Amino acid sequence: MSKDVLMRPVGFVRSPYSETAQVPKGFGAQHEAEGTIEILPEYEPGLTDIEGFSHLYVIWVFDRSDRCELLGTPPTDTKPHGVFATRSPRRPNPIGLTVVRLIGRDGPRLQVVGLDMLDGTPILDIKPYLSSIPETDLRRGWLGEAEARRRSEA
Ligand SMILES: C[S@@+](CC[C@H](N)C(=O)[O-])C[C@H]1O[C@@H](n2cnc3c(N)ncnc32)[C@H](O)[C@@H]1O
Repeated sequence: MSKDVLMRPVGFVRSPYSETAQVPKGFGAQHEAEGTIEILPEYEPGLTDIEGFSHLYVIWVFDRSDRCELLGTPPTDTKPHGVFATRSPRRPNPIGLTVVRLIGRDGPRLQVVGLDMLDGTPILDIKPYLSSIPETDLRRGWLGEAEARRRSEA
């Protein structure tokens, strides 16, 4: 029997999206929404030296997801895929991961671009984005196949 894990938000997102339907999705969806990540005052010292990073990983909670689906059909395909092969909000542990561009900091507030979460979304953690994997080593799985099918149909 595994132990439960209790986590508390370190902050909240201020985003232009109040409903999931407003967030761009599907092929070619661009995430250019600008907003703020507001860190709770007690965690502000943890932002020291963050300004030097261009991009950040934001780890957050799908707090308005109401169920888990181990198989689901994403907006970019007509076939179902396992939840761990997708970025679905309907996960056993409803954790989201978004890479944002950091454009400024004002005390406990980070001004960022690239949000895909709803206003008020709880943030669990922030880490600097560092990628050492060359583009040529990356495979896009079923998504690459769906994109190729779409290109051939166009
Ligand atoms: C496909 S998920 C991807 C999220 C993240 N980039 C990831 O990979 O984990 C993005 C969708 O989650 C939904 N969403 C955003 N914020 C949410 C929240 N707080 N609770 C539930 N669903 C949310 C929106 O419908 C949005 O289109």
